[in-house]
Amino acid sequence: LNYRVPRTRREICETLIKGLQRLEYRGYDSAGVAVDGHSKDLKDDNNNICLIKKKGKVKALDEELYKKDTFSMDEEMDIHFGIAHTRWATHGEPSAVNSHPQRSDKNNEFVVIHNGIITNYKELKKYLNSQGYEFESETDTEVIPKLIKYLYDNRESEDVSFSMLVERVIQQLEGAFALVFKSRHFPGEAVATRRGSPLLIGVRSKYELSTDQIPIQYNSGHFNEGIQQRNSRNRSDSSSALHSVGDGKAVEYYFASDASAIIEHTNKVIYLEDDDIAAVAEGKLSLHRMRRQAGEDPVRAVQTLQMELQQIMKGNFESFMQKEIFEQPESVVNTMRGRICFDNNIVILGGLKDHLKEIKRCRRLIMIGCGTSFHAAVATRQILEELTELPVMVELASDFLDRNTPVFRDDVCFFISQSGETADSLMALRYCKERGALTVGITNTVGSSISRDTDCGVHINAGPEIGVASTKAYTSQFVALIMFGLMMSEDRISMQKKRLEIINGLKDLPDLIKKVLTLDKKIKSIADELYQQRSLLVMGRGFNYATCLEGALKIKEITYMHSEGILAGELKHGPLALIDKHMPVIMIIMRDPCYSKCHNALQQVTARQGRPIIICCEDDPEIMKSAYKTIELPHTVDCLQGILSVIPLQLLSFHLAVLRGYDVDCPRNLAKSVTVE
Ligand code: G6P
Repeated sequence: LNYRVPRTRREICETLIKGLQRLEYRGYDSAGVAVDGHSKDLKDDNNNICLIKKKGKVKALDEELYKKDTFSMDEEMDIHFGIAHTRWATHGEPSAVNSHPQRSDKNNEFVVIHNGIITNYKELKKYLNSQGYEFESETDTEVIPKLIKYLYDNRESEDVSFSMLVERVIQQLEGAFALVFKSRHFPGEAVATRRGSPLLIGVRSKYELSTDQIPIQYNSGHFNEGIQQRNSRNRSDSSSALHSVGDGKAVEYYFASDASAIIEHTNKVIYLEDDDIAAVAEGKLSLHRMRRQAGEDPVRAVQTLQMELQQIMKGNFESFMQKEIFEQPESVVNTMRGRICFDNNIVILGGLKDHLKEIKRCRRLIMIGCGTSFHAAVATRQILEELTELPVMVELASDFLDRNTPVFRDDVCFFISQSGETADSLMALRYCKERGALTVGITNTVGSSISRDTDCGVHINAGPEIGVASTKAYTSQFVALIMFGLMMSEDRISMQKKRLEIINGLKDLPDLIKKVLTLDKKIKSIADELYQQRSLLVMGRGFNYATCLEGALKIKEITYMHSEGILAGELKHGPLALIDKHMPVIMIIMRDPCYSKCHNALQQVTARQGRPIIICCEDDPEIMKSAYKTIELPHTVDCLQGILSVIPLQLLSFHLAVLRGYDVDCPRNLAKSVTVE
């Protein structure tokens, strides 16, 4: 929203489209915008809102915008509020009509964009249908603009404010949402709110902000209080300069699901909490809630983000995924930076140190995550058991919840999540909190729901990850969890030798990663051979089992080939039946305690004419004899080897996807941050 900052419609559209492109990794099957403007299909001309929606990627929407001859791109607007959305379908197929903004009626009186899921939409739709409101899409979201119009049509007073209508809307909604509303009845005003899904507001002004803490205005304790009465209180509140940002001076506001969409405009942001309502009217931003709960923070801070735009640009790489794979020598350093003292072998994770005593006394550690983040838990489980001498459970968030897993007050639950927003992991977090466990977040996103809602935690500091297939976040999660183990075992005499070995291994890790990355050409040539295959097995055990799961996930995510990560110990219990001279198999055989067992598996594969491509340590003539091809890696401590062994598989999946002609960063049907159950 620009307030007294003149912008042409072109600039407004460009800002919206660019913002969407930065968020495209969250979902990309259709997109839409709403801006002020005339449209042939609308009846009258006052404060019209023009909706432009398109199936496909944001680029298709961008092209569509310039095709519209309905408005001039050069028209300058002093005050304007535009909204835009990129969708990842949950209800209703990808199509223009199902994409957002969703609207209240053919005159676009209210338009809404939504991230999340409304679970009671069927009941609401039934009611609104009975009141004569007709629906055009198959989405859950459409009930929201219809509902706000219903409340507006049935308002008790002409004085009703936009934020009060929204407040009433969210009282009726169940599920998860981040919502932004625009209306013809409130031109130049914006209202946004959230529950469960993330939402932040960026503020850009050449004036110093009058405050860095915005007090919440508590509107009412009673839902049935008269609108008139509440409105007058509202108005007197927002007239106080203390209670708003902007003070009517020239200012621009940006609402977004995550900071990468707005960082090029401002680094001053406010993170909204569940059920906060943010309203901008006459250039002033104010925050509202229904009522104050005991212990609740009555202010929201304006925070300054450290993220740089450059961090989220592709640079010279073909795709974000490729860039992120090659960033790993630096991203693991950023995870360790300031946390390991190599002189005296001390590891300090600032976000955990106050809880260390409690963690050491716990009954067990439970590590919970989804997708790649779950694999980081699998990868570090063994060394954490060894270093902490505690039982360690690893859990997929969805299954953990399905089982109603018993959780106790003396459990410590880790939530591993790159985005910090994954719905299943967040729900598991709430579940564990309710049962009184200590909760620890391992995330890559400062300000994310998981990092805010856990009792303590570690930011892995890998920098923004844009490619849907996670790469550098995995290796940084891996390093962060190992550092946690090192911190826990500092006073265990029996562990000192092992700790020293690992700390030295971490010191050398960036150089070893660089060495592995030099294998890129060789891996590309292997991809040239494999890219037309239908299936690819990845086999290993012990410390490298997680690499098999993660490698197979990378391959299926972006190449759409069938791929399975197989525990070599299970080979004879089923997978061996798949082996013949046609089935490509990748085996991971490193010099670690499982070496001879892996060797047995290799013999079983070759005895069935399998032609294994083996990821092994340098100078292993024994292995070379039986291999069809080898990818030779530098040797490191057993528990860190998985960081190196996953990289060839990241590179392989990347090359396979490119050769098969797929969009590496935006695989079909997947999203980076899955904020629905
Ligand atoms: C999605 C992504 C995966 C990711 C998983 C967990 O499925 O496509 O790449 O591993 O979510 O995400 P999180 O942000 O919680 O690590």
